[in-house]
Amino acid sequence: MLMKTLDINLETEQQLFFHNYARLPLEIDYGKGSFLYTTDGSRYLDMIAGIGVNAIGYGDERLVGAITAQAAKYIHISNLFMQRPQFELAEKLLELSGLSSVFLCNSGTEAIEAAIKLSRKWAALGGNGEKREVLSLSNCFHGRTYGAMSLTAKPKYVEGYEPLLPGTGMIDFNDVEDLERKVSGRTAAVFVEFVQGEGGIHRVSEAFVRRLGELAAQHGFLIVADDIQAGCGRTGTFFSYEQFDVIPDIVCLAKPLGGGLPLGAIIGGEKVSGVFTPGSHGTTFGGNPIACAAGLALIDVLFSDGLMQKAVETGRLIREGIEKLAAKHARIQEIRQYGLMIGITVDREAKYYVEEALKKGVLVNATSQNVIRLLPPLTISLEEAQLCIDTLDEIFSEEQA
Ligand SMILES: Cc1ncc(COP(=O)(O)O)c(C=O)c1O
Repeated sequence: MLMKTLDINLETEQQLFFHNYARLPLEIDYGKGSFLYTTDGSRYLDMIAGIGVNAIGYGDERLVGAITAQAAKYIHISNLFMQRPQFELAEKLLELSGLSSVFLCNSGTEAIEAAIKLSRKWAALGGNGEKREVLSLSNCFHGRTYGAMSLTAKPKYVEGYEPLLPGTGMIDFNDVEDLERKVSGRTAAVFVEFVQGEGGIHRVSEAFVRRLGELAAQHGFLIVADDIQAGCGRTGTFFSYEQFDVIPDIVCLAKPLGGGLPLGAIIGGEKVSGVFTPGSHGTTFGGNPIACAAGLALIDVLFSDGLMQKAVETGRLIREGIEKLAAKHARIQEIRQYGLMIGITVDREAKYYVEEALKKGVLVNATSQNVIRLLPPLTISLEEAQLCIDTLDEIFSEEQA
């Protein structure tokens, strides 16, 4: 029997899948550098880069080479064995963080789950049966699994899934008084995105971080950095928390870490390094050798090509460009930029700009209703960055006309 050709369009998408993604009407053929190419021959400047995953753009030969070389050796062996890519990646993450132990998983939400479990087990081993509480900050996003979702602020991600994980709670973002009110001897850990991504690109304040450190020492709780979106160099340092006076007890990474392959990690300090024992936590696929080889290649490219410095410089250029637009277009209310993590608040639904930019060959993203989010590859050139600014200029001008 002849199979009917499968149409790749939004209609078929509706027939095949659960309806949990609002997909763009594009079928991607391939990517090169900062551009995605569709099967109908169109080219799109990708200013969202797989939602912050594709930090070195598409088709980097060093990354592709590392992936294919490892695939030829073995694709999977399980965590019953030892393997060089995992060991080298762990060594690298410890060298970069100065922390003590690594656990590898497959995604951001899994890293958060591991960090929640590690925090609670650490607290339990401390002998205080009351110390169960895990807190996060309002407006945050930590993931979709139950623990991570229970720490996530936005009602739209949580509604209908209750009851959530008990013993979780939220501190008002950057509100030192609320922080003082909420933490206590019952607190096991506070989870912090030092630059909130999904929440619209908001940076935690120095004063808040300072007080958090003091209270962590006073009450004996852990500070967990969720660097899943802001980490791996996007804000100009490998870890975004390096720009603050703090050393977290646990750091969560994912998104760009595997160079586009599924890879997450938690890195823990001395306090927690003896907490997990054989069998107490694990994953079948976590620390996949190809993903680890890709992660090593990614980190190598980040450093050897000076991409973190480049993120700072290109980010500044984009900010200056958007500031010029803001002087002309009243719709732009605020620009928040940390390296190549950029949020532009507008006074209407940001979705409108996503759709208009798409028509003009530029991919941007909307978050928090009225924030245009840019998370371009760290490899983006100044000309490409300018193309994005010019396209936004055109859209705002046409809207006014
Ligand atoms: C800060 C942060 N934490 C956690 C997650 C969850 O990661 P994943 O989608 O890989 O589960 C995300 C994803 O957007 C994120 O931005």
